Amino acid sequence: MLRPQPQGGAVALIAFTAMALLAFFVYQDTWMKYEYEVDKDFSSKLRINIDITVAMKCQHVGADILDLAETMITSNGIQYEPVFFELTPQQRLWHRLREEHSLQEVLYKTVLKGAPTALPPREGTASEPLSACRIHGHVYVNKVAGNFHITVGKPIHHPRGHAHIAAFVSHDTYNFSHRIDHLSFGEEIPGIINPLDGTEKITTSHNQMFQNFITVVPTKLHTSSVTERGERIPIPC
Ligand SMILES: *[C@@H]1O[C@H](CO)[C@@H](O)[C@H](O)[C@H]1NC(C)=O
Repeated sequence: MLRPQPQGGAVALIAFTAMALLAFFVYQDTWMKYEYEVDKDFSSKLRINIDITVAMKCQHVGADILDLAETMITSNGIQYEPVFFELTPQQRLWHRLREEHSLQEVLYKTVLKGAPTALPPREGTASEPLSACRIHGHVYVNKVAGNFHITVGKPIHHPRGHAHIAAFVSHDTYNFSHRIDHLSFGEEIPGIINPLDGTEKITTSHNQMFQNFITVVPTKLHTSSVTERGERIPIPC
């Protein structure tokens, strides 16, 4: 006959704790693996996620997208929000993390633990006017070459193309200094730092224009944990 031993319970508990600890360490060791593949789906639209702050007032700037066929994509999903251009020390820290692309893995893990993925709100109140404009939101575009531009004046369409009305904007207010907090393609994955995230360009000239050329390659992201035996435990993301 078997009688339950008091130590038996203790051993089981210790074993369980050890397993929980092990699992914890395994989960700590997340890494990223990217797989590139040919996109065979031409008909679906591609989502572009944008969060850019320009050092000009919102009423003076307009953003829109033109594709290869010069068709203007309606940018209803894009919002204009008056903000301060200068970041507070706390926001700057958050921003620095994004600039340091080598911190990708660290950041991704902190996001798994529920850290904020957006720029933290400004702490305290400032007295200067909100002289910058944060342009953020998303747009769906065709998978063809095109350009997203932010320039002086609100965009208008007319049958033969599109234009920006800039007649009443003084040249002295032109300032294309900008900060890209987020620019990505496809569904947003929290914690991923994209190539232009964290870029800040300051100019002291009113005539400076900035251009970035981007090639989008379809990528699949798999995250898995690897134990010493090489086992993989998928992590939902
Ligand atoms: C544009 O704004 C930035 C940030 O406020 C400032 O540092 C820069 O001197 C400005 N440039 C011009 C041309 O006014």
